[in-house]
Amino acid sequence: MITLKTQKIDRNSPCWCGSGRKYKQCHMQFDEKLRLAASRGHEVPKRKMLKSAADVEGIRASAAINMAVLDEVASKIRIGMSTAEIDEIVHELTTKMGGIPAPLNYEGFPKSVCTSLNDEVCHGIPSDKIVLKDGDIINVDVSTIFKGYFSDSSRMFMLGNVPEETQRLVRVAKECVDVGVANTKPWTYLGDMGHAVHEHALKNGYSIVRQIGGHGCGFQFHEDPWVSYVSQPGTGMLLVPGLVFTIEPMVNMGKDEIYEDEVNHWTIYTADGKPSAQWEVEVLVTETGCEILCW
Ligand code: MF3
Ligand code: CO
Repeated sequence: MITLKTQKIDRNSPCWCGSGRKYKQCHMQFDEKLRLAASRGHEVPKRKMLKSAADVEGIRASAAINMAVLDEVASKIRIGMSTAEIDEIVHELTTKMGGIPAPLNYEGFPKSVCTSLNDEVCHGIPSDKIVLKDGDIINVDVSTIFKGYFSDSSRMFMLGNVPEETQRLVRVAKECVDVGVANTKPWTYLGDMGHAVHEHALKNGYSIVRQIGGHGCGFQFHEDPWVSYVSQPGTGMLLVPGLVFTIEPMVNMGKDEIYEDEVNHWTIYTADGKPSAQWEVEVLVTETGCEILCW
């Protein structure tokens, strides 16, 4: 039995969330549900991770830049363009709109965007030596800081005549994100969502990378929780309204094994050399499900 004795806020005091409402009419029941889940051994979000309505507006403003940048890439990307040119587009529009490209200098990352082609799983580094050619698939992963708020999303692009089986991989990777969004609901567990995503990939004959996943996002580039897409139902963090994280499964046509580039220590490749596809959205858990803040 959970009693109120650990409760530090008086029922009639203003709620901790800043809504101005009395605690008992605001987050009191919410806190009780969290305490109950924690007492049953579940991981629950810390209060400071949750985004207020004002924080969500801040993330939306950041996301507006992030999505405009991806739209710009979508309109300009073509065969013969180098990935360094994509980096220039991203850097220029982000800064023109008042944002900062989050990847630039992040833990030493040298460019403003990640561009990952074909068997590159993620963290491809833009270069004037990498030129897009007919039949390529590429993930362009854009992340923006605006007025202290972080947004993060990525999209796939297909250049020219992409083999049908590779087009299918790109399509199913997108469906995996849709399945993740449909399975992100308050008072369920992160593992429920991750498991549903994994099932969709497996059902289509694909695998999902295990070692790299999504992340909480908004106050920082990468915050808790870590988001796996190979997880078990009923495990992982309890999802509650106000939680913001990314859904970004890396879907491999072949095996899930990967390796890191020995020279740049960033780029991740599939071990079997088969293609990998990834789309990424940033979602807010709401009272009824979730809302996509950035895509
Ligand atoms: N945008 C990637 C993500 O989805 C992170 C890239 S880290 C970087 O989490 F340093 F390469 F930018
Ligand atoms: Co991300």
